Amino acid sequence: MKLSLIKALYIDELKEIYSYGESENIFYIAIQWLERRNKTDVILGLETLLKETYIDVLVELKAGKPIQYITQETSFYSQLLYVNKNVLIPRPETEELVHWVIQNEQNKNVHILDIGTGSGCIALTLKKHLPKAKISACDISQEALSVAKSNAKKLEIDVHFFTCNILTDTLDKFDIIVSNPPYIAVKEKSSIHQNVLDFEPHEALFVADNDPLIFYKTIINKTIKNRSILYFETSEFYTHDLEKWLEKNKLKYEWRNDFQGKKRLLRVFD
Ligand SMILES: C[S@@+](CC[C@H](N)C(=O)[O-])C[C@H]1O[C@@H](n2cnc3c(N)ncnc32)[C@H](O)[C@@H]1O
Repeated sequence: MKLSLIKALYIDELKEIYSYGESENIFYIAIQWLERRNKTDVILGLETLLKETYIDVLVELKAGKPIQYITQETSFYSQLLYVNKNVLIPRPETEELVHWVIQNEQNKNVHILDIGTGSGCIALTLKKHLPKAKISACDISQEALSVAKSNAKKLEIDVHFFTCNILTDTLDKFDIIVSNPPYIAVKEKSSIHQNVLDFEPHEALFVADNDPLIFYKTIINKTIKNRSILYFETSEFYTHDLEKWLEKNKLKYEWRNDFQGKKRLLRVFD
């Protein structure tokens, strides 16, 4: 069967869950993963003998399973990372956050902590691109830490991982803190894509409605007295509240827009 026909099938069958562009991307991830094929092979009219396998993948996709949990890999800052159901699938905004830290912290002998490391995407990318920095990373989830450690081993990148509950634990001193913490209020659940709700770990996503900024406030309160510089990914829905809180606490801050032009990346300093 021609790959172009499989592509048409994917786009048609997935249209209720994904936009045309998203389905197209998913199809290209699937052909790369299954047969190391690409867009050119589709345009050239190449055939596949794996029709049944493509159908099996399509069945899982139609059940809402993200393609990255099917392939168990995702690309982050041009690096393939292992992922499974215990970690959030790293997002492009987080690549932008990492890029900002890399730009600002080049060639410095700093000690950086990544809080809520998940797959290890932030910590591992920082160590790769800031070799002089010492990198530590923590998470409340043992399962997430085991994914992060297995990525570190596979990529031969040296990061110190440890368990933490950032809301209750005391913290040592770090020069730089980077975090993409949970920031979606439970009341926002209805606006979240069903496949995110059904498949991604809720502990990575949600915070209580009564204090959606709890992670930012707690992390800043625990570290700013050490003159740490903090980099965060944030929710577009709480920009104003977060600014109000930062100003009330007389903290300096700087926003950087994400690729959609939204204030989602934040640097806080004293
Ligand atoms: C939004 S995910 C970010 C994962 C990864 N850093 C990324 O950017 O893809 C938030 C992470 O924070 C972790 N987490 C949730 N509550 C935590 C807590 N109280 N202390 C430490 N980590 C926590 C979750 O397990 C999850 O891995």
